[in-house]
Amino acid sequence: MRVLVTGGAGYLGSVCAAHLVETGHEVVVLDDLSTGHLDAVPEGCRFVEGDLAETADAVLAEGFDGVLHFAAKSLVGESMERPELYWQGNVVTSIRLFEAMRTHGTPRLVFSSTAATYGEPERSPVTEDAPAVPTNTYGATKLAIDHAITSYARAYGLAATSLRYFNVAGAHGRFGERHAVETHLIPIVLQVATGQRESVAIYGEDWPTPDGTCIRDYIHVDDLADAHLLALENAQPGRHAIYNLGSGTGFSVREVIETCRSVTGHAIPALPAARRAGDPAVLVASSERAKAELGWQPSRTDITRIVDDAWQFTQAHLTTQPR
Ligand code: UFG
Repeated sequence: MRVLVTGGAGYLGSVCAAHLVETGHEVVVLDDLSTGHLDAVPEGCRFVEGDLAETADAVLAEGFDGVLHFAAKSLVGESMERPELYWQGNVVTSIRLFEAMRTHGTPRLVFSSTAATYGEPERSPVTEDAPAVPTNTYGATKLAIDHAITSYARAYGLAATSLRYFNVAGAHGRFGERHAVETHLIPIVLQVATGQRESVAIYGEDWPTPDGTCIRDYIHVDDLADAHLLALENAQPGRHAIYNLGSGTGFSVREVIETCRSVTGHAIPALPAARRAGDPAVLVASSERAKAELGWQPSRTDITRIVDDAWQFTQAHLTTQPR
């Protein structure tokens, strides 16, 4: 297929673009490099640098079989302080993309949605029919886009899939996570191991969990990429499918830090800190629907493997000078 990857210079976009190229697809990456990196665009992709809202129409006019839409603003804290950036950058920009797809008859869409659409779930593991009540603006904008996709599928026959990721981690060779502003647990802990930080703060040790720290479901980015390719292939015209993606097992913050200690061989000092606003105690996915309908089977679910791949990537990037 000929596929446009928006945000293909970012973490998830670059890994999925690499998987697409490796499986014989023709890929164009569109990215404004606001948070992505030029050197993360995989070999074999054509790269267009530009603002998505302004450029989507001209690019899609070339004719595509599908779009993987990753480009977004994704910092939960920032979304609460500067909501306009998220409503504009996520919702308005996505509608511009969907209008360009409609104009040029692009048939398939895979959208990068999030567990944040569920907010504080009442039950664990979280299924797709759990109430979607986001607790932050980031999640609200992603949910709004999911609603827009449902109406585009119904009205215009778009073959669409939203993938709701839980905690994505790990790396695909030279493609991995390197944000200028890092908020995610595993990269922060690995920065302590490399000496870029002195310690990691544990956001709350009094949660109602066995060791008092929050529990999350870590999914390897390669398993995530497999799901994107399956979603692209299995999309049905007029249907908007929604799937949760996780490994189905929860690990506490302490367990993650301990795994990072054993993988890296570093002591990794961890200090207690206040709870972070908006954090649910436990967030674990049920991915049964993705398994049943897409035939998806996550195969890199071992937390040591996930951390080890992230660690290899982190070490390799200490010596490079990314743009
Ligand atoms: N944590 C710490 N210290 C840190 C960083 C994180 O203790 O320095 C804890 C958090 O409180 C949380 C866990 O580690 O309990 C994981 O935090 P992350 O920031 O890595 O991930 P989140 O679970 O907050 O975020 C994920 C996705 C978001 C999505 C959110 C939905 O990365 O995109 O789930 O709740 F919005």
